[in-house]
Amino acid sequence: MKFFIDTANLDQIREANDLGILDGVTTNPSLMAREGIRGEENIAKHYKTISDLVKGDVSAEVISTDFEGIVAEGKKLAAINPNIVVKVPMIKDGIKALKWFSDHHIKTNCTLVFSAGQAILAAKAGANYVSPFIGRIDDSSWDGVELIEQIANIYAIQGFETEILAASIRNSLHIVRCAEAGADVCTCPLEPILGLLKHPLTDIGLAKFLADAKGK
Ligand code: E4P
Repeated sequence: MKFFIDTANLDQIREANDLGILDGVTTNPSLMAREGIRGEENIAKHYKTISDLVKGDVSAEVISTDFEGIVAEGKKLAAINPNIVVKVPMIKDGIKALKWFSDHHIKTNCTLVFSAGQAILAAKAGANYVSPFIGRIDDSSWDGVELIEQIANIYAIQGFETEILAASIRNSLHIVRCAEAGADVCTCPLEPILGLLKHPLTDIGLAKFLADAKGK
């Protein structure tokens, strides 16, 4: 499973990248706004900085909702760097745009996916990634990870090549459960990734080894 970081914060991206396990970055308009990045020119500059910083795919989200607008915006974003992936919302014109991008060899990530039916449509349209938002599903008292499992089964049965990018991950257990459920990628803030390190027996064991090594 690939690890993407879900942020537009450059310090967090650098820290995750320094670990040597980062495979890519996802952003969305809310994450850009959180960093105070506004306006087309500043947003494009920020995507350039992020996509220069990491080797893997960087999802850059369109804000247009009509076919022509999504395609025009996506073409500009894709021109920033070869590792930019155009993030397109799961709407009717979005599906049409995903197919257009697929026909024109521009990589895409279909976002705001909350059902298996939507994931089938995204795959049919040729999306490279599909992003089910598992945390937001959990927030409404459904099990988000069950959706990952269902999509993974359908894609395996049907031979779809779209990668399942588990998004809206809120904690380290989500990452473990997504790995079990067959996600190809998980994207989350830095904290749940660092949470995977934690185990008290590791700390106790290391303290003992170090003490023994010093002959104490
Ligand atoms: C990633 O592609 C999504 O934009 C993101 O994971 C949404 O996460 P949230 O539900 O925590 O806002």
